[in-house]
Amino acid sequence: MGLQGERTKSWFQRACQVMPYGISSNFRYWGDQDTLVVQRAKGAHLWDMDGKRYIDYRLGFGPIIIGHADERVNQAVAQAIEDGTLFAWTTTAEVELAERIIRLTGVEMVRLANSGTEATMQALRIARAYTGREKYVKFEGHYHGSADYFMYSTASASLNMLGSPRSPIPAPMTSGMPTQIAETVIIIPFNDFELLEKTLRARWGEIAAVFVEPVMGNVGGILPQKEFLPTLRRLCDEYGIVLVFDEVKTGFRIAKGGAQEYFDLKADIVTYAKALGNGFPIAAIGGKREVMMTIVPGQVSQSGTYNGNTVAVAASITTLDLFEKEPIYEIIQQRGQALMKGIDEILSDHDIDHALTGLPAMFGIFLGSAQPPQNFRDYLKGNSSLYTQLVRGLAQRGVLPDIDGREPWFLCAALSEEDVQETLNALNDTVRELKQQGKLK
Ligand SMILES: Cc1ncc(COP(=O)(O)O)c(C=O)c1O
Repeated sequence: MGLQGERTKSWFQRACQVMPYGISSNFRYWGDQDTLVVQRAKGAHLWDMDGKRYIDYRLGFGPIIIGHADERVNQAVAQAIEDGTLFAWTTTAEVELAERIIRLTGVEMVRLANSGTEATMQALRIARAYTGREKYVKFEGHYHGSADYFMYSTASASLNMLGSPRSPIPAPMTSGMPTQIAETVIIIPFNDFELLEKTLRARWGEIAAVFVEPVMGNVGGILPQKEFLPTLRRLCDEYGIVLVFDEVKTGFRIAKGGAQEYFDLKADIVTYAKALGNGFPIAAIGGKREVMMTIVPGQVSQSGTYNGNTVAVAASITTLDLFEKEPIYEIIQQRGQALMKGIDEILSDHDIDHALTGLPAMFGIFLGSAQPPQNFRDYLKGNSSLYTQLVRGLAQRGVLPDIDGREPWFLCAALSEEDVQETLNALNDTVRELKQQGKLK
């Protein structure tokens, strides 16, 4: 039985008449019986068209960090639109936001954009213009948005597309891309010190940038090994390569200052989106002054009609203000730890081989081995079909992580202790049911 109730189903069918697969973004499709149509969301919960309530761990794929429809954020937006939304001039709010981002993250300058993809595209251009080189290094399973340059060896690839781990090949993720651009990307497995060092030593003269998700936000939150990011920093310094932290998922989530704070390291360029706006579309490209000043009108382009619009800026200022005034991170940390511990205990009690990956604010559940995966290839060896069955059981019980285990569980500060307990009860019941049905060995 699918997840859709009667009204949800009928709206989904109507959606399919006018939008391919009834959705506006491919990752939202859970199949014809399970794709939801949502009525509204508040705090940590969302409701489908049949009024069924879910505890939401997808949180729009990460942006909701305070909670859905937060009144303080909404009020700020309502007030801002009274004075207009878009002027194609600088506003004081925009300056204030840039100052706040700089204060929280330690970047030296920022430019605003509207989505993670815009931010990463522009970061790559800045890095190329800064170095005068064209290629860039990308790690397997990392996702940097839907621009053609980035759609290689993402988390959607299967093992047989990736080539040998000693000489990985760029696996294209979609039709419709010019074949030649594959030549501009150099693929390396995450946490592979040896291949990283060998590649940068041999090819640094062609490499503009290394892009990295400091925590693998698109493959279960896999963490870098202890010295991996410092090694990356050292090698990029040695060879004049721009180090780009893609913090679209980790930024303002794993710490106020994101991965730069968490790992105590500075990148040359950092991209932010998602939690920067608590659900409003906003992104930022930040970085060292010298690198950011590569942007020059008429010479190096960074532009966008909606950049700095007052709606998104007001939402973002209020969100960042709440980070400084309220214990947002403490709450998320506590709830996340309780969930990870509870999940670990339930799976252990039922003898299910597993490892919890990632951090409390965005964690993953790896099934099939107790050995946590170190990279995307390890992850692909896990038991993803069991994960899907677990999530189906959870969703039927009103708990909604993504059906795809590569997508981490995201937490927001509106998640209560009761929500955590309800989630763990639902997991316990699901595991028992699967056991009764003989679906667990
Ligand atoms: C690390 C990372 N970079 C970039 C993007 C692209 O962001 P957007 O979907 O806002 O374009 C995503 C989206 O999930 C992401 O996870």
